[in-house]
Amino acid sequence: MLKDKNILLGVTGGIAAYKMANVASMLVKLHANVHVVMTRNAAHFITPQTFEVLTKNKVYLDTFDETPDDAAHVPHISLGTGADCILIAPATADVIGKLAGGIADDMLTTTVLPARCPILVCPSMNVYMLENPIVQDNIEKLKRFGYKILEPSEGYLACGYEGKGKLPKEEILVDQILLEVGHVHDLEGKHVVVSAGPTEEPLDPIRVITNHSSGKMGYALAKSAAMRGARVTLVSGPTALEAPLGVELRKIHTAEEMYQQVTDASKTADIVVMAAAVADYTPATVADQKIKKKEGDLSIPLKRTKDILLSLGENKRPGQFICGFSMETENLLENSAAKLAKKNADMICANSLTQEGAGYQVDTNILTLITKDGNEQLPLMSKLEAADRIYDKILFLQEKKA
Ligand code: CTP
Repeated sequence: MLKDKNILLGVTGGIAAYKMANVASMLVKLHANVHVVMTRNAAHFITPQTFEVLTKNKVYLDTFDETPDDAAHVPHISLGTGADCILIAPATADVIGKLAGGIADDMLTTTVLPARCPILVCPSMNVYMLENPIVQDNIEKLKRFGYKILEPSEGYLACGYEGKGKLPKEEILVDQILLEVGHVHDLEGKHVVVSAGPTEEPLDPIRVITNHSSGKMGYALAKSAAMRGARVTLVSGPTALEAPLGVELRKIHTAEEMYQQVTDASKTADIVVMAAAVADYTPATVADQKIKKKEGDLSIPLKRTKDILLSLGENKRPGQFICGFSMETENLLENSAAKLAKKNADMICANSLTQEGAGYQVDTNILTLITKDGNEQLPLMSKLEAADRIYDKILFLQEKKA
C-alpha cells in the first residue's frame, strides 16, 4: 500500500519514542521507504541504530552530519522535499513550539520547514504540559498552517499521572499515514454508507437473538472507503472492533434501529453497502422482566423485520449505487442472483459459508461479485483487499454507466 512512498518519521525526546521502532517496522512491511530524523534528546530513549537496522536508511540527528554520499545534496532539504508524508511522533512541547515559531535549529526542524507534503504531528507529553495554554496555542497555530494534529490518547502516563497525552497505538499512527498517502483518493467527494456487524433483538432485559457476524467485512469496507477519500458513515451492530479512522460511527442494536440509521444516512449517500447480518425476525413482544423457566418447552413468536436492502433498492436515487451481501449455505450463486433482482440492488457480494477462509469471524473472504452484467469470482484474500476490489468494481460500473 505504500510502495514507492517516502515516509519521514520525526522522532523527538519523549518516552514513547521507543514505540516508533514498531511504527517504522510496520511501514517497511507496507513497502514504504522510511527515513528517520531524530532529535538529540530522542536518542536518550532509542538508538539511531535501531531505526537504521529496521529501515535500511541512514538516520539523521545533526544537520551537519553528512556522509560522503550526501556531499552532492543537502540532506535536510532533500529529505523534506522528497517526503510524501511526515509523521512527527512523539512530538514534544519543544518541537511543537519550535515549528509554531518557525524556528529551525536542528536536523528535524530544518527538514520539516521545506516540506510540502502532509505533515502529521502527534503531541505526546504530561497532561498538564499538554493543557498549558502556550502549548495549546502553538497546536492551534500549527493547525492553522495546515499541519494535521493527531489526538493523543488518554490513560496512565509514564510520569505517573492519568490523563491525555499518550502516544496512540502504533496501528493508529500507521493508519493515519495510510489515510494520507496509502491510496489514490478516487472516492473523494463521495459519501459512502456501510452497515456492519450483527443485530441484537431483545427477548427480555437479559436475552437477545443475534448471529455470529464479527463486523470485520463491514469495518474493512468502511476503512477502505475512508482511505480512498470518501466521507464514510458506518452503521454498526455490537462488535469488538474499533471504528476506522476518519469514519462516522453510528452504533445500533436492533434491526429497526439499523433501518432508521441506514435510511437516514443514505439520503445523501452515493454508495451504500449493506454488509450487516440483519435479523430477519424479531420477538413479537419483549418481556419487561426476565422470562422465568417453567415445566415443558417454550415457543417464542417472532415477527418479520424490515428488509433494509429492499427498501434502499425501492427508494434508490438516480446515480446511487446499492450493494448488498449474501450469505448462503447452498445454491450460492442462484440465490444471490435472485436477491440482486428482488431487492433492485446494483451488486451482490456472495459469500459461501461452507468454504474455508470465507464468512464470519475470519480476516479473509472469498467473494463472487454478482451484477446484471455477470459474475466475477474473487480468490481468497484479506477482507481489506476484498473491500478494495468491491470499490474498484463499483467505480468501474459507475464510469461505464456515465
Ligand atoms: N438485509 C437487510 N435487511 C434484512 C435482512 C437482510 O438489509 N432485514 C440485507 C443484508 O445486509 C444483505 C442482504 O440483505 O446485504 C442479504 O442478506 P441475507 O441474509 O443473505 O439474505 P436475506 O435477504 O435475509 O434472504 P434469505 O433469508 O432468504 O437468505
